[in-house]
Amino acid sequence: MSTSQPENTQPIGLDVGSSRVVVARTVAGKYQYESQLNAFLAVPYSKLTATLLDSDNVLHAVEGSEILVIGSAAQRFAEVFHVAIRRPMRHGVLNPQEPHAIVVLRCIFTKLLGKSSAEGQKVFFSVPAPGISGDHGISYHQAAIGQLLSELGYSPTPFEEGLAVVFGELDASNFTGIGISCGSGMCNACLAVLSMPVISFSISKAGDFIDSQAALVTGDLTDHTRLQKEQSFRINGLAGGDRTNNALNVYYQEMVANLVESLRGQIASGKRLPRIDKPVPLVLTGGTAMPKGFLECFETALRSSEFPLRLSEIRVAADPLNSTARGALMAALC
Ligand SMILES: Nc1ncnc2c1ncn2[C@@H]1O[C@H](COP(=O)(O)OP(=O)(O)O)[C@@H](O)[C@H]1O
Ligand SMILES: [Mg+2]
Repeated sequence: MSTSQPENTQPIGLDVGSSRVVVARTVAGKYQYESQLNAFLAVPYSKLTATLLDSDNVLHAVEGSEILVIGSAAQRFAEVFHVAIRRPMRHGVLNPQEPHAIVVLRCIFTKLLGKSSAEGQKVFFSVPAPGISGDHGISYHQAAIGQLLSELGYSPTPFEEGLAVVFGELDASNFTGIGISCGSGMCNACLAVLSMPVISFSISKAGDFIDSQAALVTGDLTDHTRLQKEQSFRINGLAGGDRTNNALNVYYQEMVANLVESLRGQIASGKRLPRIDKPVPLVLTGGTAMPKGFLECFETALRSSEFPLRLSEIRVAADPLNSTARGALMAALC
């Protein structure tokens, strides 16, 4: 297992997502990001394989009779070995059915963060907001991630992902507005007023839902469907004859409709909603907000019926894969 040990004692922002782990730091006054796929694959142990992975600097760990190839390298090795990629997290939290979840995350954190360079060095890490229909393992997840970071010598603070988006994107409106992160396992949303969360929630229809449902109706592999979505897909309705494209369009619309309805419902039923006189901005981020046409799709769903708040603008963040980590860092620096 290799480690990197930067001598930077500044606070750190960490986005612990179902598909990627992103670390944000300030280096010479600038934000700097590093990420690893939050994934691994298992191959049978052999001394030769372990030596080759070592000499190739591939992130890995030996667990009993298996070698776990961990992080971004897992994608490459999955294609070479024709082995399925596994993920330590599902729907935004530790996957209770994955026995290697903790080992894999420890390895990824060690690679991305190294040991703390000063006692009590701060790490703000993203956690999901409560799900509309219950906790779904969030407390355990939060405690376990906190413990892994403490083991590395950090002082960890959990920070809700939607609020991190507000910190990362809405400084111009005094951290007042709606931040939404659309990831793989979840969408997280937060309405904040002057940096304080007023309403926050998570829903589990997000990128993985789109991939698995689209793959189900086309009969294709989920991983192939995901790759097509990430590489060449745009949201433009049922435009051509490509079945995967059409299926992705259908499930994207369903996901966005679900997100907008949940947002509408949560805000409309907010009991202690402060009076918000001015229209507020809404910002969308995360990998699932990246395809062309996403903003238009979201706006169309929003216009389909009345929204309980006036919005000044709706936009997609400039750097959707890094903005949660940056927001967590900004919160840690406050
Ligand atoms: N260019 C892209 N177009 C469409 N979807 C993308 C793109 N890049 C990543 N994704 C999707 O975004 C999700 C990952 O986003 P991310 O914000 O990193 O999620 P998480 O926070 O869950 O790790 C996955 O479902 C992935 O397939
Ligand atoms: Mg995320």
